[in-house]
Amino acid sequence: MKTQLSHPIFKVISECADEMNVQAFVIGGWVRDLLLNRPCKDIDIVAIGSGIELAEAVANKLGGKHQVTIFKSFGTAQIVYEDYDIEFVGARKESYRTESRKPIVENGTLEDDQNRRDFTINALAISLNSKTYGNLLDPFEGQKDMNLKIIRTPLNPDITYSDDPLRMMRAIRFATQLNYQIETTSLESIKKNKERIKIISKERITDELNKIILAPTPSIGFKLLFDTGLLHFIFPEMVALQGVEIKNGKGHKDNFYHTLEVLDNICKTTDDLWLRWAAILHDIAKPPTKRFEPDHGWTFHGHEDKGSRMVPKIFADLKLPLNEKMKYVQKLVLLHLRPIVLAKSEVSDSAVRRLLFEAGDDIDDLMKLCEADITSKNEYKVQKYLKNFELVRQKLKEVEEKDNIRNWQPPISGEDIMKAFNISAGREVGIIKNAIREAILDGIIKNEYEEAYQFMMEKGKELFNK
Ligand code: CTP
Repeated sequence: MKTQLSHPIFKVISECADEMNVQAFVIGGWVRDLLLNRPCKDIDIVAIGSGIELAEAVANKLGGKHQVTIFKSFGTAQIVYEDYDIEFVGARKESYRTESRKPIVENGTLEDDQNRRDFTINALAISLNSKTYGNLLDPFEGQKDMNLKIIRTPLNPDITYSDDPLRMMRAIRFATQLNYQIETTSLESIKKNKERIKIISKERITDELNKIILAPTPSIGFKLLFDTGLLHFIFPEMVALQGVEIKNGKGHKDNFYHTLEVLDNICKTTDDLWLRWAAILHDIAKPPTKRFEPDHGWTFHGHEDKGSRMVPKIFADLKLPLNEKMKYVQKLVLLHLRPIVLAKSEVSDSAVRRLLFEAGDDIDDLMKLCEADITSKNEYKVQKYLKNFELVRQKLKEVEEKDNIRNWQPPISGEDIMKAFNISAGREVGIIKNAIREAILDGIIKNEYEEAYQFMMEKGKELFNK
């Protein structure tokens, strides 16, 4: 353990703690990640005494440029050292949680402090005082739980989760990130206490949700969220995807589990949170658009369009950003069926051009989403669809090379139109501009100035000679 504590910052903290005659420990996530061999830049130090005073002494020893930021109401102090974020706190008798607004009850022992942490794997501490430097204090057998790959609370889970109900989400988040099992009584307790998630702010919930989504296999987390009933409170639109209805002997696929497969698939090709969100939301409007047509069976006509229109409310409810990231997700949801149409061999260049124009630079992400959307169990079909998409990619490449349509601006601008007809901005300019764009996308005229100018003159004549 001592070698891992070789970073000079720990020596400085150790000296200060000895000089002040207080016990100091590094605790929580940093220790967990050290044992799991994961890099961690957040260091939590707990002092049996005042965390703020220890932080001040450490900053002093480090010299002038290291400032202490004190959060009086939280009883914590922070020092930024190199790229480390070091937080100091006095041992607490009450629940430890970040962002707690409750007054902090200090003067606890190390054991009190460890008791009030969320999970055994997060309650490990390493002593920093010189006499005991590097000793691991593991009263709840957190190391054993790591070996067994188990998420367990130090106390009765009902107490730990009611101290801070966000921990129910954290349990699922750690289980997903680490591929651990949540121990049975803990899981039962989450099912029992799920409603308490309502008292937690949306921002904190979504923070955990995004961490689940960024894990290697997010379906683990979503299944746990669904099975415990938490998902019903935090993201009901997704719950609505679950289930299979059968009519006249015809069923449809379970869109919840399908969505999770698509999500896991896309995670193999991207680390991007928003492309992962697009996978989660691509079929979100299947429940509200579901119809049974006796001749065809189940249909979900227009689910891509309605789904895209559902995105802003879902983003607002989850306190996700309502900016260009949201627009990107909307665009992918809206377009997610389009490449399938292009897979037909007789497809025209103009259909390809249109998709390139509408998707712009997001065309590659759209293709990834479509490929991830293939979840057939029939390997023959999977191979066939993948081959079709290979063909689509080829067509996209050919048309793009020929016409350069991605991020394209038509060769004639609104200004050009106004000048040519000596008119000011208004409806007519828009009509002519659209007509030029459509004619180019449809391949009626070439994507170049001369032909577009000619076309504009004709359109203008038609419009103004009426
Ligand atoms: N903690 C807790 N209950 C919470 C949040 C945090 O008991 N609701 C404790 C845990 O001991 C945790 C430590 O505070 O290890 C630091 O919390 P935080 O920085 O939020 O998370 P980490 O566990 O470090 O994990 P990550 O960095 O992956 O978020």
